[in-house]
Amino acid sequence: MFAYKASAQQGTRMFRAKILSKCAFRRKMSSRLVLGIETSCDETGAAVMDETGLILGESLHSQKEVHMKTGGIIPTVAQRLHRENIGRVVQEAMERSGVTQSQLSAVATTVKPGLALSLGIGLDFSLNFVKLHQKPFIPIHHMEAHALTVRMLQPVVFPFLVLLVSGGHSLLALARGIDDFLLLGQTLDEAPGDTMDKVARRLSLIKHPKCSMISGGQAIEILARDGDRLKFLFKPPMGAQYDCNFSFAGLRNQVTMSIQKKEEEEGVEQGTLLSCVNDIAAATQHTVASHIAKRTHRAILFCKAKDLLPSCNPTLVVSGGVASNQYIRKILKIVTDTTGLHLLCPPSKFCTDNGVMIAWNGVERLREGKGILSHTEEVNYEPKAPLGVNITAEVKEAAIKLPPLKLRVTD
Ligand code: KG4
Ligand code: ZN
Repeated sequence: MFAYKASAQQGTRMFRAKILSKCAFRRKMSSRLVLGIETSCDETGAAVMDETGLILGESLHSQKEVHMKTGGIIPTVAQRLHRENIGRVVQEAMERSGVTQSQLSAVATTVKPGLALSLGIGLDFSLNFVKLHQKPFIPIHHMEAHALTVRMLQPVVFPFLVLLVSGGHSLLALARGIDDFLLLGQTLDEAPGDTMDKVARRLSLIKHPKCSMISGGQAIEILARDGDRLKFLFKPPMGAQYDCNFSFAGLRNQVTMSIQKKEEEEGVEQGTLLSCVNDIAAATQHTVASHIAKRTHRAILFCKAKDLLPSCNPTLVVSGGVASNQYIRKILKIVTDTTGLHLLCPPSKFCTDNGVMIAWNGVERLREGKGILSHTEEVNYEPKAPLGVNITAEVKEAAIKLPPLKLRVTD
């Protein structure tokens, strides 16, 4: 959607080596450098970044293919894969950057929230690393990092509204500073990516020729393009709750019941690809999209009513794996166009988990001198960690009713 500075990784090895030998050397002399490490879920990521947000080197190992085969993340498997890959991933990022350990100004690592066993691997590795090389350590909140990644790509000023939607997250927050967030709404049960992954699994989309090697969410987006969403009418979640929280479990239940009914009608066993998969995908995607859009619409109206957004160029940033869904983006654009907000969606590569977003959060903290530790004895990981100050009750109390808005995508 917009140009970004992350160019050092795009060329061939030779090209990259040349660029790094000329530019990185000059930068290394003038800029502080941060190594970022991410292991909170199913990606082992590392990146070296300079103070301007230029990615000097990065490496990412995704476990998604392994977890797709087992039908979900098994924490002990995730832990083993992080353990097997973290050394190589960090080494690759360092080598690609042309930066030596001694030139680093700090190491930033995700310590919360996430899977305990996964977080533990990144933290242990990082604490050993900072001890060995005598570097300051910057503990990172994974959601804060997602929320602020956009600022690496362009100068988005605080405050701005953030929608994070992925396989593990679903929340709306107001970002007021690098460590200052107001939580407006969050999921009461599961995240939208998780819901779509489960629906895709229940539909056995892995057997579909167009969907065998992609995530459930992607599969639903692709099939939905050829489907008629009006063939299945799912009740939109939480219609009578005038807050900004999310709920997707009830929708999943409705979809599962419709699938069962269709299987009975067609006289096929569970696990058989139904003839109506495209229509189910389209209806599921539309219901997820409009639920997300309505909660976001209310969050915008709440922020406006409380004067929480700037009058000049108020912005909604959307991130997380589900943010790469074009249908959802289009529906959100209807909301932002109607309310006069600017919609920013970072490229998919930066919406999903990686070391770059952690390194960037380290850079932001280093610049402001916030949360930089020279002693790490007390540091631990936290599987559960809220984002910012929770004002969801205040949002609920405001009980803002949405004006009618047609969420219809035409193309
Ligand atoms: O951010 P992410 O890579 O990992 C975390 O969950 O943290 O997001 C992965 C999730 C998966 O649930 C996947 O199904 C969903 O994002 N996803 C999508 C699309 N691409 C990935 N959902 C809807 N439409 C897509 N195009
Ligand atoms: Zn994430």
